[in-house]
Amino acid sequence: MKTLLTGGAGYIGTHTAIELLQHGHDVVIFDNFSNSHLEAVRRVETITGQHVPTIQGDVRDQYALTDALTQHGIDSVVHFAGKKAVGESVSQPIDYFDNNVNGTLVLLRAMQACKVFKLVFSSSATVYGTPSYLPLDERHPTSSTNPYGRSKLMVEEILADVHHSSSNWALTVLRYFNPIGAHPSGCIGEDPADIPNNLLPYIAQVAVGRREHIQVLGNDYDTPDGTGVRDYLHVVDLARGHVKALERLQHLTGPELQTINLGTGQGHSVLEVIRAFEQACGKSLPYIMAPRRPGDIASCYANPARAQELLGWTAEYDLATMCADAWRWQSANPKGYRG
Ligand SMILES: NC(=O)c1ccc[n+]([C@@H]2O[C@H](COP(=O)([O-])OP(=O)(O)OC[C@H]3O[C@@H](n4cnc5c(N)ncnc54)[C@H](O)[C@@H]3O)[C@@H](O)[C@H]2O)c1
Repeated sequence: MKTLLTGGAGYIGTHTAIELLQHGHDVVIFDNFSNSHLEAVRRVETITGQHVPTIQGDVRDQYALTDALTQHGIDSVVHFAGKKAVGESVSQPIDYFDNNVNGTLVLLRAMQACKVFKLVFSSSATVYGTPSYLPLDERHPTSSTNPYGRSKLMVEEILADVHHSSSNWALTVLRYFNPIGAHPSGCIGEDPADIPNNLLPYIAQVAVGRREHIQVLGNDYDTPDGTGVRDYLHVVDLARGHVKALERLQHLTGPELQTINLGTGQGHSVLEVIRAFEQACGKSLPYIMAPRRPGDIASCYANPARAQELLGWTAEYDLATMCADAWRWQSANPKGYRG
């Protein structure tokens, strides 16, 4: 079994590559390196002791994809490639729809041409919009307030239509909650190119001295301490969820479309995360209160029961471990892969 990882050089892709290789799978990485570094793949090779064939290509290039699928004898794809910054998606909607939606269409076309019908897709809890109840299960209505979220919803709808159109496809949509942390080796981790959009890499950059203080965006939410609550999930747990999803797909003989949450089921507030990171790095971290970010919600956490039932997967790592691993990565690589 050989799996193509589109966007496999990125944060979640590299962690998934390690877990797949360590579970005896062959992987090929296909990435345009628009938000990643070849050095990350080299480190995956060092950690696993295995060579990882890597193709520099864009998922909107059908010929490059067809070539990769046939030359490497690929039988399944995990589709990570995409742009992921909510704020940027508001100012650059055309780029987001082109990359995330058009990119997926071109990938599906290439897969169909090469008779590769097994796909795992990286979706997001953002497709639930403003929760009408918690915890969020997969039956919760979907909606979106920004182009990034809409791009994920559009792809989910496209995959549903593709599934209905023929009996060939076996498709798994994974809705991630908030992946944080890093590989316990400290050799790979999250390395945002610009100012981090997400809380954890921002905190880590403050801890390492790259930024002055953390901004807590809103302290008047209807939550226990007034700050936003999210379901933080160790990226290694998330990666292992992909191994389970892929192994399930590879054993399937018939068509299927499953949508599965990957989260811990537990929410943590911004202030709790800051405190946990302070414990991990052994220093106090300056933060200031700032206004809410438009579009942000008070609380969001998963009902992970379906992942347990269908994949036999539950998250293992707690917040302290997530922060300790993130700190190990950030302190050993203050400038990320560029250093
Ligand atoms: N990190 C999160 O918080 C989060 C949460 C929910 C969903 N997701 C989704 O998971 C996926 C992976 O996220 P990540 O955090 O690893 O992001 P990332 O930016 O680290 O990885 C994405 C990778 O895709 C590559 N890429 C982008 N456009 C491409 C294209 N057109 N062709 C080929 N490669 C391309 C980038 O170079 C990068 O290596 C994304 O689809 C993202 O939307 C991420």
